[in-house]
Amino acid sequence: MKISMNRICKSFDKAEVIKSLDLEIQDNDFTTLLGPSGCGKTTILRMIAGLEKPDSGEIWFDDSCVFSDKNRINIPPEKRNIGFVFQDFALWPHLSVFENVAFGLRAKKDTVNIKERVNEALESVQLSEYKDRYPSQLSGGQQQRVGFARAIVTKPDCILFDEPLSALDAILREDMRLEMKGLIEKLNTTAVFVTHDQMEAMSMSDWIIVMNKGRIEQQGKPENIYQRPKTHFIANFIGKSNWVESDSMFRPETAALKKKDGYREFPAVVSGIDFLGEKYNLYLNVHGKRWTVESSSRYSVGAEVSVYVNEHDIVTI
Ligand SMILES: Nc1ncnc2c1ncn2[C@@H]1O[C@H](COP(=O)(O)OP(=O)(O)OP(=O)(O)O)[C@@H](O)[C@H]1O
Ligand SMILES: [Mg+2]
Repeated sequence: MKISMNRICKSFDKAEVIKSLDLEIQDNDFTTLLGPSGCGKTTILRMIAGLEKPDSGEIWFDDSCVFSDKNRINIPPEKRNIGFVFQDFALWPHLSVFENVAFGLRAKKDTVNIKERVNEALESVQLSEYKDRYPSQLSGGQQQRVGFARAIVTKPDCILFDEPLSALDAILREDMRLEMKGLIEKLNTTAVFVTHDQMEAMSMSDWIIVMNKGRIEQQGKPENIYQRPKTHFIANFIGKSNWVESDSMFRPETAALKKKDGYREFPAVVSGIDFLGEKYNLYLNVHGKRWTVESSSRYSVGAEVSVYVNEHDIVTI
C-alpha cells in the first residue's frame, strides 16, 4: 500500500512539531524515518495510524483518503488496517503470549480460525513453544517478537515500527535487525520504520527519509544519502565527515595514507588513535581542522602523515 501525506501540519500546545510535510511511502518498500530525538518521527507514525489527528492536510492510503481536514474525513485507527510495533513492546502483562497476539483479532470480533492464525503468526517469529507464557517470563527479544506477531496477525496493509529494537542490547539488536528484515521481506508488505540509529537505517532500508525539526532534509537510497549528503546536517548526522572547506567534505574510508596518483595531498599530524579490532581510526589535525581516517597499522600521536583524497570523493554541500 502506498501512503501519501500532503501538507500535514501538527502542533502541540502552540509548538509547531510538523511543518507542512509532504511525504510518500512507496508500496512494498521498507522506508525508514531517520532523525534526532524530538524531530517528529513518532508523531508522523501516530498520524498514519490514526492515533494522532493532524491540524491540517491530507493522508491517503492508495486511492482512499483516510484524513482530510477540509473534507472532514478521519478514519478511526481500527479501520485503517495498520500494524504497529512499539518501542516498549506494550504487551498486556496479564495475558499469555497467545492472548496478546489474539487481542487485536478479538477486539475486531474477527475470530474465524483465530487459533490457526495466531499460531501461524507465532510460528513465523519462532515462538510457538512460548504461547502459554506471560510477557514477564520472556526476554526482551522474545517480547519484541510477540509485538511483531501481534502486528502481523491481522494481515495489515502496512506495518509501522517505532524504534522497535532500541530497548535491546547491542548484540541482540543486530540479530533482531536481520530477523525482522527477513520477516518483513517474506510478508511482502509496506513497512515504515522509525529510528535515530543511522546504522540501523542504512542496513535495513530500501529508502531513507531523513528528518530534522519537523521537516524532511533529504530522502533517497541509503548509499545515495551517505555518499551524497545534501546538507550540513545530513553530512554530520550520518556517518563521519572530514571538512575540506566550510562547504565540502569527504568520508573517512575514501581517503588513503599512501601516495596515489592524481589524488590531492593534505599534510596532517596524528592527534589520537582508536583500535577497533579490524582497523585503526586515526584522528588528525589538518590546519586546525579535525579529521578521521582509517588505517590498517598503528601510528604514534604526533606523527606527520599525508592524507590522499580523490577529488571525486569530495562532496560539495
Ligand atoms: N502529546 C504531546 N503533547 C505535547 N507535546 C508532544 C506530544 N507528543 C509529542 N510532543 C512533542 O513533539 C515533538 C516531537 O515528538 P516525537 O515524539 O514525534 O519525536 P521523535 O522524533 O519520535 O523523538 P524520539 O526519537 O525521542 O522518540 C517533541 O518536541 C515532543 O515533545
Ligand atoms: Mg519517538
